[in-house]
Amino acid sequence: MHFQSTLLTAGLLPLVYGLPKPQLTYEENTSPVGGVDAPFPTFTTTTGDLRGSTNLQGGIAQRPPTSGGDSAVVQDPDLVNGQSADASLGLYLDFNSAKYPNGPQPIRGTQGATDPGPRTYEYEKLNPDLFAPPETDSGDVPNAMWPLGLSHNRPGTGTQSGWARQQNAAVLPAATAMAGVDMRLSPHAYRELHWHTSAEWALVLKGSVRVASMNEDGASFVDDVTAGDVWFFPAGIPHSLQALDEGCEFLLVFDDGNFSEEETFLATEMLIRAPKEVWAKDLQTDVSVLDTVPQGQKYIFPGTAAPADISKQNVTGSGGSLSGPNGYTYHWSQQEFHNTTGGSVKILDPVTFPIAEMFSAALVVLEPGAMREVHWHTTSDEWSYFLQGSARITIYKAPQSSRTFDFTAGDVGYIPQAASHYVENTGTDDVIFLEVLQAKKFSDISASQWLALTPAQIVKDTLNFTDAVIANLPKEKTLIKPGNANLTQIAVSGKP
Ligand SMILES: *[C@@H]1O[C@H](CO)[C@@H](O)[C@H](O)[C@H]1NC(C)=O
Ligand SMILES: *[C@@H]1O[C@H](CO)[C@@H](O)[C@H](O)[C@H]1NC(C)=O
Ligand SMILES: *[C@@H]1O[C@H](CO)[C@@H](O)[C@H](O)[C@H]1NC(C)=O
Ligand SMILES: *[C@@H]1O[C@H](CO)[C@@H](O)[C@H](O)[C@H]1NC(C)=O
Ligand SMILES: *[C@@H]1O[C@H](CO)[C@@H](O)[C@H](O)[C@H]1NC(C)=O
Repeated sequence: MHFQSTLLTAGLLPLVYGLPKPQLTYEENTSPVGGVDAPFPTFTTTTGDLRGSTNLQGGIAQRPPTSGGDSAVVQDPDLVNGQSADASLGLYLDFNSAKYPNGPQPIRGTQGATDPGPRTYEYEKLNPDLFAPPETDSGDVPNAMWPLGLSHNRPGTGTQSGWARQQNAAVLPAATAMAGVDMRLSPHAYRELHWHTSAEWALVLKGSVRVASMNEDGASFVDDVTAGDVWFFPAGIPHSLQALDEGCEFLLVFDDGNFSEEETFLATEMLIRAPKEVWAKDLQTDVSVLDTVPQGQKYIFPGTAAPADISKQNVTGSGGSLSGPNGYTYHWSQQEFHNTTGGSVKILDPVTFPIAEMFSAALVVLEPGAMREVHWHTTSDEWSYFLQGSARITIYKAPQSSRTFDFTAGDVGYIPQAASHYVENTGTDDVIFLEVLQAKKFSDISASQWLALTPAQIVKDTLNFTDAVIANLPKEKTLIKPGNANLTQIAVSGKP
């Protein structure tokens, strides 16, 4: 009061002076399904002035009370199953069961605190391990997750011909060695004849596509691929893609983190970007032919149906046609999975698809509760893509950092070379995901197998495991570890 009297004497307090009222009013978002959580500030003004008085400056203005306001108080936080357990257990937290408005909360055991602030529940439900990290997370690990659902979608030309969206180093800076594109072609639509500076590996996600190409020796190639099949075009090799009758969607992986779908070489632009005189000479035709070519790129555009009989589109010269080890496709959908406890795996690498000389991939199915075992890749970063389900990955980065990221269908993951990691199914459906490496052979170091094949005495002296634990370690690579589909059960039973 002494301070205020001084100000009053100095004429620095407003004439009308009562209890300080909050300048912001908070509207509660009462939506039971979440969305943007209140409080959301709204300014109210009676005078029309946009700026407040200089009397509001610190040291002059009335101070707020130290207690009595309630905007930061969160009553009865609603904790989900596993959230009260020891934070180092790092149980997966299913925030979908958290009840609005008292959950989800960024709390684990004694760690963290409630969140009274502006928030969007959907991010927290999708990323519980970012919002309430396991206690084992530590230090700084560059972001390793990009949802393609946050990428700009570039529509094709013409009527509903398709679209493409991409993940590259611009949105995921840690992803330096590989980039990805998700592309949709409507029935009979084309991805325009084009080529690029990077090599392109593709997995068909839905529908079927006709691919056509030619190499440096004038050997041509045409083939049809369907969901689960793969194509590969080396850097600079020109190609075309046309959706068959049902349309298609496919995933492209490039061997350059800076690849951009906006920067491909296009047939239309090639024609437009040299003098007509040159093209008339090059194509040995009349100059008027050049007046009829499109004056802009077609990119993705509607087309006429490809003939069902592919031989009608088989054009060969003296260079012949490419097939077998020189062919640009692999009918991976026809390869059986290797089934094991907890899931299944199949591998495609240059051992059986030699043209894709540096692309090695695994398609992995994880049953609920199961986990792609802790491992790392010796020479390559890993680019991964989730086709189904929900999962989490913890990346350990030397010397003492780790961070856990959550993934759902359509998300891209990126794991640096040599960094150990696992992929755990955190949902109730099978997880299906793709791992892509820049390597001549798909390989990894299995952490548990390494410990099993290290002299027991060394493991015991280092990690203080009992003889029984060491004897139980697998001398064969397991790839997948089964687990209880109830991911919080371990808090009660102590067993996975
Ligand atoms: C990718 O682009 C960034 C920024 O321009 C550059 O620093 C980096 O060297 C590029 N990486 C490659 C592999 O070209
Ligand atoms: C295309 O024709 C060549 C022979 O010229 C043949 O070897 C090849 O199998 C044909 N490809 C297709 C897809 O029909
Ligand atoms: C093997 O796993 C695949 C993929 O999960 C599944 O579709 C198939 O039915 C399994 N085969 C057997 C014999 O269990
Ligand atoms: C090693 O493990 C035993 C239990 O097997 C425990 O009693 C002991 O404290 C551990 N030693 C260290 C150094 O943590
Ligand atoms: C999982 O296990 C916990 C601990 O036993 C139990 O409280 C919870 O109800 C279980 N959840 C489901 C979905 O069965």
